Amino acid sequence: MSKKNPYLAVPDAPPGPAESQLFQRRVLAWFDHFGRHNLPWQRDITPYRVWVSEIMLQQTQVTTVIPYYQRFMQRFPTVAALAASPQDDVLQHWAGLGYYARARNLHRCAQVVVAEHGGQFPRDLDALTALPGIGRSTAGAIASISMGIPAPILDGNVKRVLTRVHAVEGWPGTTTVANRLWQIAEHYTPRQRCAHFTQAMMDLGATVCTRGKPACTLCPLVDLCQAAAQGNPTDYPHAKPKKQKPVRATWMLALQYRRQILLYRRPQQGIWGGLWSLPEYPSEQAVQEALALRGLQPSTVEALAPFRHSFSHYHLDIHPIQVRLRRKPAAIMDGEEQVWYNGEQLQQVGLAAPVKSLLQQIDQVS
Ligand code: ADE
Ligand code: SF4
Repeated sequence: MSKKNPYLAVPDAPPGPAESQLFQRRVLAWFDHFGRHNLPWQRDITPYRVWVSEIMLQQTQVTTVIPYYQRFMQRFPTVAALAASPQDDVLQHWAGLGYYARARNLHRCAQVVVAEHGGQFPRDLDALTALPGIGRSTAGAIASISMGIPAPILDGNVKRVLTRVHAVEGWPGTTTVANRLWQIAEHYTPRQRCAHFTQAMMDLGATVCTRGKPACTLCPLVDLCQAAAQGNPTDYPHAKPKKQKPVRATWMLALQYRRQILLYRRPQQGIWGGLWSLPEYPSEQAVQEALALRGLQPSTVEALAPFRHSFSHYHLDIHPIQVRLRRKPAAIMDGEEQVWYNGEQLQQVGLAAPVKSLLQQIDQVS
């Protein structure tokens, strides 16, 4: 364990202006040396060019985007050209990038910018966010990179860096955690060089503070970073809490005559399809009723210890009922393939997993 930075020892202490300036200086100095400076959308910067790049980059990697971006810009050099083009043309230039709602929104957004904003992107965060396909983070990127407006962004890369630097607990998908992250992002956004700062935060997340292998020793924020001090950066951001699986219950009848147990073959469809299993009932009472209905007279009826079998989507609590018979009945289930098995045969057939362990257990005690 590395030792804790005493300056950051109180997790919820509001970071002060000095710490914020240090953060900014570090990030910008790192960007000057190690950031990306030659991406196509970093040349001839305009709101239009930055907007198109941000939409393309939302779900797609930089290296994939570059050739698409260049073809797109040649074909649609201005927002007016894009707005005036048929949708088919736009979609055709998007083909291969995926998530085509992005392309349809892009086209629609261009038409709104032309119709309602005179062909100029509004220089205002709220007005940008109101446009089709532009969320708060994309609006922040367009405003900061192309308009010099000090606005924060909070894309996946930045979320990762900030949750680590502040050891932010909780899943960022919740409003509470997201609000806290926006506050932190806002706090660090500098008045000067905000375009570089935005690009720097994305680059830092993409190249240093990576999801699986953060290179903390190369990171300009290492001595400000709580997760690095704790030695557990990859614990952040916290994952979405797993939904609790529903619990279902079943009563399994282990019907025994001498050393044989009645099995039936499960239908091909559904769980344990085609495997051999025990007859199932929705309650203990239903087991008793089934026995009575067929005039079976058990010599013993014993509820065995229930146990849980977990599937991907639910837990199944299995309540085994062991019933011994004096006389062998013809059948217990109508219209099902069934068979009386003895201990040896059990090795050679496909048994549902929990049934297999249950039978081994019964075999040992009987
Ligand atoms: N992902 C989203 N925006 C980006 C940008 N401006 N540069 C690199 N990757 C990005
Ligand atoms: Fe990420 Fe490590 Fe830098 Fe913290 S020190 S921001 S965990 S790379």
